[in-house]
Amino acid sequence: MSTFKAPKGTYDLIPPVSVKYLAVREAISAPLRNSGYGYIETPGFEDVGLFARGVGESTDIVSKEMYAFETKGGDQLALRPEGTASVLRAALEASLHKQGNLPVKLWYSGSYYRYERPQKGRYRHFSQVGAEAIGAEDPALDAELIILADQAYRSLGLRNFRILLNSLGDKECRPVYREALQNFLRGLDLDAETIRRAEINPLRVLDDKRVDVQKQLVGAPMLRDYLCDACKAYHEEVRALITAAGVAFEDDEKLVRGLDYYTRTTFEFVHDGLGSQSAVGGGGRYDGLSEMIGGPALPSVGWALGVDRTVLALEAEGVELDIPAATSVFAVALGDEARRVLFGKVTELRRAGIAADFSYGGKGLKGAMKDANRSGARFAVVAGERDLAEGVVQLKDMEAGEQTPVALADLVEVVKTRLA
Ligand code: HAM
Repeated sequence: MSTFKAPKGTYDLIPPVSVKYLAVREAISAPLRNSGYGYIETPGFEDVGLFARGVGESTDIVSKEMYAFETKGGDQLALRPEGTASVLRAALEASLHKQGNLPVKLWYSGSYYRYERPQKGRYRHFSQVGAEAIGAEDPALDAELIILADQAYRSLGLRNFRILLNSLGDKECRPVYREALQNFLRGLDLDAETIRRAEINPLRVLDDKRVDVQKQLVGAPMLRDYLCDACKAYHEEVRALITAAGVAFEDDEKLVRGLDYYTRTTFEFVHDGLGSQSAVGGGGRYDGLSEMIGGPALPSVGWALGVDRTVLALEAEGVELDIPAATSVFAVALGDEARRVLFGKVTELRRAGIAADFSYGGKGLKGAMKDANRSGARFAVVAGERDLAEGVVQLKDMEAGEQTPVALADLVEVVKTRLA
């Protein structure tokens, strides 16, 4: 072990488990790539103001959890706590929205940083795959995203997740509701911190997990009763489209997200095997975010799914991903001449697109065959001086256990055929 350890709240992705993370990223992004979403990558840090304005100064994410710092040059930056503000910033900067091709549909995958209290499923460095559909107010887009996330989880074999759906209203109806809720909250017996929250972000109080608070919230005005006709109609259309796709969801009028930019549709994917950190993904519509960061009006919708928690969910359900062995052929050379020849064959196999590996480090037959086993390769290619003198190698089928001599010159073709 070295003197250093991974920082608190972080962990390393290490073989063989790391391959699961790759598979999850692949599975989540596949439906997006198949639905017109283009890949975008933005820096790991941004001007701190982007998140303060976009995600919201009063949110926990910005006020407590952000890794903000000043550079030697005096720039105020922050490690990105989420992807939406960055992606919208980048789309605006590249004028993607001006080319008459709205909505701009983008997907991304990367690392995010939040200075949270670490626990199972909650880390200071975590990874998300996300999607944003920028510049169109169309309930079919909201529905598309929810359906694609459902498809992604199902393709991984996950079953015990639920989709919670809500509408947070828009700039017409939400302020009216906010005030009604505030009036109600002012009449309750709450601690100072919660009273403060009620003044800054009253909707967040509805999300309070404490039993005594929840008891007092019985009879609180509900947003559903305050939605304007446009928001109601929009939400009904989203619900109808998801239902028609056969995707089950639950209406959750208490669903409040931890970021301030949401309007109308909000949703969360929760997994029942994860304990307190049950949200494996979440998202919603953010019709006002572009203007909040100095852009034009660009109604948009998106989600981000947590890769770490998705892996935990797979483990909780006991799902074994069907991951093919990384190596198809493992070469074992006995003697210097055989080393040279087989090393050349491994290069040839690789250039032919066959996953091949080689026994390095001058091991004897026994140790080398152990490596071949561990690699998961379907075939081992073994050769010593005598094989080479006859112009052959021994091709061992690791599943069947049988071994056949193959002419050196035919090896690549034979392996290709037998793998197909
Ligand atoms: P979020 O709900 O903050 O939304 O994060 C999305 C997902 O990232 C969560 O459901 C969770 O799986 C994962 N996640 C968040 N924090 C942590 C953590 N500390 N440790 C492990 N996993 C975590 C957003 O980030 C929005 N940008 C989603 C969005 C996109 N909304 C519209 N477009």
